[in-house]
Amino acid sequence: MADPNKAVEENVEGKFFVDTTCINCDTCRQLAPNNFRDAGTYSSVFHQPLDAQEERDSYRALLSCPTGSIGARGKNQAREFISDFPLLIEDGIYYNGFNSEKSYGANSYFIENADGNWLVDSPKFLLHFAKKLEKLGGIKYIFLTHRDDVADADKYAEMFNAKRIIHEWDLDAQPQSEIVLKGEAATDISNLFKIIPVPGHTKGHAVLLYKDKYLFTGDHLHYEPEERRLAAYRSVCWYSWPEQTKSMARLANYSFEWVLAGHGNRGHLPAIEMKKQMDLLVARMRRPAKSEL
Ligand SMILES: [Fe+2]
Repeated sequence: MADPNKAVEENVEGKFFVDTTCINCDTCRQLAPNNFRDAGTYSSVFHQPLDAQEERDSYRALLSCPTGSIGARGKNQAREFISDFPLLIEDGIYYNGFNSEKSYGANSYFIENADGNWLVDSPKFLLHFAKKLEKLGGIKYIFLTHRDDVADADKYAEMFNAKRIIHEWDLDAQPQSEIVLKGEAATDISNLFKIIPVPGHTKGHAVLLYKDKYLFTGDHLHYEPEERRLAAYRSVCWYSWPEQTKSMARLANYSFEWVLAGHGNRGHLPAIEMKKQMDLLVARMRRPAKSEL
């Protein structure tokens, strides 16, 4: 529960505020970009909502904030918007919301599929939300991109008897996982789902390609909407930047239109443009860091 007495100074006056418990994870800025912005080491409210959609977006941000750092003064109507989640992106693909502090607020996704639904990484386990997923047909597979973003995957696996998929090199983060990926070769789970190991951010990081169109990228790759380009986080590359660069070059050989990231924004471009952006990213990644020059 956010505390108005701890509200950060950068908030503009009004209903919504961010308090000093914020971990600056970006969730609110993705959900309500007209209202929340990066204030350095945390987010702040830079515009109060001007219309019903912005108010809805701000309540969605309040509900999804992993640390409960967003508050609403006066009448708090957050309950009215709980059932908005999961939010449909398109074609049976949803952003779950309810980001977990255990994964530093990483985004997670749900895929509705006739042969069984998928959870990609994990939101907080909340019974009301799990029941929403149950109504959508439950979960057959839980794909874990990497060790950082497993959050409450074990609870979802137990409730739905779902099979967790993780790479052996990150297996210690979820040791009871039912399907363990090995090596660097891609694995087809069906003709629609392909898992591609991409060592770099962590050694056992993998991405999921669905329908040769939707790429669930964890912390390997994200989109920067202001620069209109793809990007990778060098400063939080835990395992090996040269390996992440090699993995990115391999990934550039696949065709996709969507990048659905754990941390960072998602992006949607025509496949040809996405390929061009991947090649440009690989070229940037191959340059030495400023500190190495
Ligand atoms: Fe990570």
